[in-house]
Amino acid sequence: MKHLLSVDDLGADGVEEVLRLTDSFVEVSSRAIPKVPALRGKTVVSLFFEDSTRTRLSFEAAAKRLSADTMTFSVSSSSVNKGESLRDTVETIEAMGIDAVVVRHKSAGVPWRVASWIDASVINAGDGWHQHPTQALLDCYTIRSRRGALAGLRIAIIGDIKHSRVARSDVAAFSALGADVILVAPPTLLPASLDGWPVTIAHRLDDVLPDLDVIYLLRLQRERMTEALIPSLREYRSLYGLTAERVGRLRRDALVMHPGPMNRGVEIDAEAAGDPRSVITAQVANGVAVRMAVLYLILGAGAELVAPLPELVANA
Ligand code: CP
Repeated sequence: MKHLLSVDDLGADGVEEVLRLTDSFVEVSSRAIPKVPALRGKTVVSLFFEDSTRTRLSFEAAAKRLSADTMTFSVSSSSVNKGESLRDTVETIEAMGIDAVVVRHKSAGVPWRVASWIDASVINAGDGWHQHPTQALLDCYTIRSRRGALAGLRIAIIGDIKHSRVARSDVAAFSALGADVILVAPPTLLPASLDGWPVTIAHRLDDVLPDLDVIYLLRLQRERMTEALIPSLREYRSLYGLTAERVGRLRRDALVMHPGPMNRGVEIDAEAAGDPRSVITAQVANGVAVRMAVLYLILGAGAELVAPLPELVANA
């Protein structure tokens, strides 16, 4: 695999391969020194033109645990502020000798443009409303680690589907692994067309709540809304929020998920985020191992998978 731009690049077999490999990196991450030499000599660059906490830091942690060198690009202190174009920025970074670029940008399609300009591998860390493939992979891994498999599970994705790259990637990955995906949202927060989406639609959360295996809350992306799509946050919460009362009506073995960052008190109450059925923290933890698997698949050809660092063995 040269790039990871979309879940569709992987298909069901590719997703399964990443999840199998992730098991090995979860084991590495549990070691006293969670580091292997698989990507020694490789350089991975974080190129984030949009804010991020989880994705940027977990890619950087993943690269370091694989012994790659890392470089972090910060828009606020870069020559982008002097008018440098995206292409010139990317080609300048490549000229320093790099192996992979992890790209986040507010415009859909930018990772594909970057891949057409440079020889290094490109990993999409989120492009506009379009795709966020490693979020989908870590979500699949988290569900699989709790429920064994996704096939036959009823997974509801709730809320701002229209503006959500997570929803688009998760729908593709969950359905590829055989889950039944239900989108629950007011019509104003659904895409204009759902042609070809392998989903069913519900407009009332309370109708589907008791039958769900997984309830996946999305952040209400007010920064991407250009018009009033909901009457008020209070009404949104009353119809679509996972409140403490609604948590009481979930199945005992249901999983509560959210990609983060959360708007507590809007799409999810603090009681729901802290419920024993919540796996939101596990999603973040699994993100590091999943991203190790992705970097290894892209850059690690021929490298031994999870051997400890030679200096650790020598000093044992
Ligand atoms: N889930 C996610 O992409 O979080 P960040 O925006 O913090 O990276």
